[in-house]
Parts: sequence; C-alpha cells; structure tokens
Amino acid sequence: MANILVTGGLGYIGSHTVVELIQHNHTVIIIDNLSNSELKVLSGIQEITGVLPQFEQIDICDKKAVLQCFSSHAPIDAVIHFAAYKAVGESVQKPLEYYANNVYGLLVLLEAMRETNTSNLVFSSSCTVYGQPLELPVTEQAPLQKATSPYGNTKQMCEDIIQDYIASGVSFKASLLRYFNPIGAHPSACIGELPKGVPNNLVPFITQTAAGIRNELQVFGNDYNTPDGSAIRDYIYVVDLAKAHVAAMNRLLNTDSAHMCDICNLGTGTGVSVLEMITAFEQATGVRVPYRISPRRAGDIEQVWASTDYANTLLHWKAQTPLADVMRSAWKWEKKIRGIK
Ligand code: NAD
Ligand code: WQD
Repeated sequence: MANILVTGGLGYIGSHTVVELIQHNHTVIIIDNLSNSELKVLSGIQEITGVLPQFEQIDICDKKAVLQCFSSHAPIDAVIHFAAYKAVGESVQKPLEYYANNVYGLLVLLEAMRETNTSNLVFSSSCTVYGQPLELPVTEQAPLQKATSPYGNTKQMCEDIIQDYIASGVSFKASLLRYFNPIGAHPSACIGELPKGVPNNLVPFITQTAAGIRNELQVFGNDYNTPDGSAIRDYIYVVDLAKAHVAAMNRLLNTDSAHMCDICNLGTGTGVSVLEMITAFEQATGVRVPYRISPRRAGDIEQVWASTDYANTLLHWKAQTPLADVMRSAWKWEKKIRGIK
C-alpha cells in the first residue's frame, strides 16, 4: 500500500478521491490551505472511512512548508495535485492570482518532488483545454485551442510544464487527467461540493433552486445547434471520477518505465443538454426546478463530450453511475447542508 500526498484534498474532487484512496488501504496525507474548503470535510471523510487522514494546513506556494511536509511524511510514493483556483469568470478578473496559484503552485510542487526524489504525479487538468472541438466525441489527440480564460490557460501551461519536465530526461511519471463536468456528491452525503455564493455551475444551481434558495434557474441559451437548442456537456459523477484517480495512480506505481506521461479524458462519453439535466433531476427526485430561457452565457461553448476509449483501455476504468443516482446524490447533499428533511 502506498503513501499518497494529496494537495487540495479537502476540496470537492480531492475529498472524494481521499475517500477512495483510504478505502483501497492507502495512507493519505492532505495538504490544503482552506482557501476554498473547510476543516469539517476531514470529519466527513472520517465518517465514511473510519480513518482520519493526516492533514497539513499549508499553502502549496510555500516551498519551505511543502518541503518540510515531504520530509516529515517520507517516503511519499505519489502525489495527486488538485490544489488550484478553478472559477473561469473570476480568473478573467484576477489573472495574476490564478497564474500565481495554479502555475507557481505546480512549480513549487515539482521542485519539492525533485528534491525528495518523488517521481509519480497525477495532475488535475480539464476539458477546457479543448475549447469547442471540431469533432465529437473529443479524443486526447484533438488539437488544443487557445484558452479563452486565464484559468484555462493555467491548465494548458501546467500540462506543458509537466511534459517538458519529463522530456528533460528525469525519472518522472505523470498522469494528466482531463476532467469533463464533475457533479454529484458522496452517496452518504458526508461530503460534497461547497460552492461559495451564487454557484456558476449548473448542478449546484439546480439543487439550490430546488431547495428554494434561488427563485429560478436560467438556462443560458436555447438557440444552439443541438437537438433541443440548449448546450451539451459530459457530466461525470464525482465518485466515478475519484475512482479513476486511484486507477491512474496505480498505473504509475506499477509501471516499470522511468518516464511516462499519460493524458487521459475522464468523462462518461455521453453528452447531455441543459434541458435534459433539468428533466433528469426532476424525474430522479420528484422536485420541480423552475427555469426560464436566458441569453447565452459569454464564453460558453456549444457542445462537448469525451471519447472515453483511452481511459477505458489504459486505466481499466469506466464511469458507471446512472445520471438519476447522481442527481439523487446531489439533492441528498443539498438537503443535508440546508437542513431540509
Ligand atoms: P476545489 O476548489 O473544491 O478544491 C481545490 C482545493 O485546493 C480547495 O480545498 C482549496 O482550498 C485548495 N487550494 C487551492 N489553492 C491552494 C493552495 N495554494 N495551497 C493549498 N491548497 C489550495 O476544486 P475542485 O472542484 O475539487 O477541483 C480540483 C482540481 O480539479 C482543480 O485543479 C480544478 O482546476 C480541477 N478541475 C475541476 C473541475 C470542476 O468542475 N470542479 C473540472 C476540471 C478540472
Ligand atoms: C454547464 C452548462 C451552461 C449554469 C465549467 C468550466 C470548465 C470546467 C467545468 C474546470 C453550460 C449551463 C450553467 C446555469 C445554465 N471546470 N448553465 N445555467 O461551463 O461547462 O464548465 O466547469 O476546469 O472549465 O468552464 O460548466 O456547470 O458552468 O455549465 O444554463 O445557471 O450549463 O451555460 O452550458 P461549464 P457549468
């Protein structure tokens, strides 16, 4: 069993991955600066797994503290790097903060890994690197398009940095995982997403509207070139996504080669429209979601979904959870955090 350092491990995807790692008997050390998470997530993880993971409240950009963490928990077998800022719109307003946290944070981590001879990295990338693909489903070979936001650019830059580092001939293995749209919460409702303020993402907005916190959902655009006119995405259950991280990490740990860089889409392979998502939520939960059609949201692409062949083959992994179950998990979590019976 391995000793795994998880940066951003108290965040949405990180916490679900920590649960999966613990359930596969790995030892987990979490680094998080709580900039977008809360300490109580640790108790949620403990409630599900019976294990309280080790936690260091550290900023990933603080090299001294990061190095200290590597040495006090040595040897670290692999790092899963989630810590980053992730709001696309905010990144347009605060580009320097996004480049500093997401790009400099990765550099610090890579330097610390080099200094401690730690050679396995799983990195959180995003389907945002593809922009609007010319062909669907989008494969890992599709050309990347110029990023439309500083956030998207940080993901492209980080992918380049990791690939350049490996190309320099060092003994280093990485898995760059391009997530599509992660949604839902752990079925126990002990952990889930904690969006601050008005959510940008569709599913938290749906659940908050269903809970009566928002009056109505705006459907951004019904004039796209799609069957029902609303935009199409590939929504992947966060627990399925978390399981893919365990598979990606195991592949790194079990591959003899000294250099390796996997690039892998993590999606379901199925595109679902905004209007279909509303219907899926209503049918799964029996709760109505009032909505109205609004203009398109600036910067949105029309449609994207993943080719999952490579992930299926490489990681022996497939997203399996039906959308209805995912919607029920999201609703259970929303009710829990709002104290709704
Ligand atoms: P999140 O904000 O819930 O989790 C990120 C965690 O990292 C938070 O707990 C935050 O406190 C921590 N963090 C941020 N900066 C830090 C720093 N400098 N030092 C230490 N900790 C820091 O986000 P998430 O949805 O779990 O996303 C995880 C990763 O996946 C991110 O890299 C994100 O860009 C990427 N990603 C997310 C999505 C999505 O839609 N959620 C999609 C594609 C890719
Ligand atoms: C999904 C669809 C909206 C809210 C973002 C990032 C991307 C990645 C995943 C990190 C779109 C529509 C939404 C609402 C709506 N994150 N919508 N009403 O924009 O596909 O991707 O998260 O890497 O980089 O851009 O996700 O959940 O915001 O939107 O109609 O109130 O739902 O227009 O078509 P998106 P989303």
